[in-house]
Amino acid sequence: MEETETVERVAGVCGELVLRRRGEHHEIVANGTFLMDTRGGTSERLLVTAAADHMPAPGRIMIGGLGVGFSLAAALAHPGVSEVHVVEREPAVVRWNSGPLAPVHGDALRDPRVRVHVDDVVAWLEGAAPASLDAVCLDVDNGPDWLVTPDNARLYSDAGLAALVRVLAPGGVLAVWSAQPAPAFEACMRLHLDEVEVVEVAAGTAQPDVVLLGRRPLESVRIELRRSDPGRCLLPGW
Ligand SMILES: C[S@@+](CC[C@H](N)C(=O)[O-])C[C@H]1O[C@@H](n2cnc3c(N)ncnc32)[C@H](O)[C@@H]1O
Repeated sequence: MEETETVERVAGVCGELVLRRRGEHHEIVANGTFLMDTRGGTSERLLVTAAADHMPAPGRIMIGGLGVGFSLAAALAHPGVSEVHVVEREPAVVRWNSGPLAPVHGDALRDPRVRVHVDDVVAWLEGAAPASLDAVCLDVDNGPDWLVTPDNARLYSDAGLAALVRVLAPGGVLAVWSAQPAPAFEACMRLHLDEVEVVEVAAGTAQPDVVLLGRRPLESVRIELRRSDPGRCLLPGW
């Protein structure tokens, strides 16, 4: 049995964060709850590759939530990606990715295509220019119905989806990671996006990991038509 070693324990923006090492692997624990580790990563990579495969040129991607950098590494390996904006609210997570976690992704934060924004993704979206991204890949929670912090609920509301769609260029792709199916959020996505699709990835647990994908309509008027259809979005506003 391998021993677990605490590499660093810090007071993070949203509570205690611990980086632990067990054998060759690392794991991040937030407020005593497992957040992410360096084993696997299949669905975290798919989150980005599925979006990048379908996004328009020039391939400007935002990744919400750095974690251990699986999604970032997938973005940099994709031929269609020209720039990557990583939005991560925990400075320690960014620092660990330039230190003990750098071998996981070949020190991806040093890639000239990468810009790191130490910020809350909700606040960052408000400041981002409209239609400035070709894909937005969101993995900040265990899913729309299983939040890491209550504030993140804003992202999955009707207004949160509108904010995500606002920063996408017409035809741009939104991808959202979840550790379980999220039918209410999927229904809300259908109000804002075309070609909504759910991809399941076996995770060796009772529920598959899920990646929800959708494309920003080319004509924004269609969003208004769908939003006038009452009762279809069951999620609360901000
Ligand atoms: C599950 S991890 C992401 C895993 C990542 N996809 C990977 O490949 O390793 C979630 C990350 O999102 C960050 N996070 C959570 N809420 C956030 C928010 N509102 N804004 C920015 N980052 C957030 C956490 O600190 C954590 O680093």
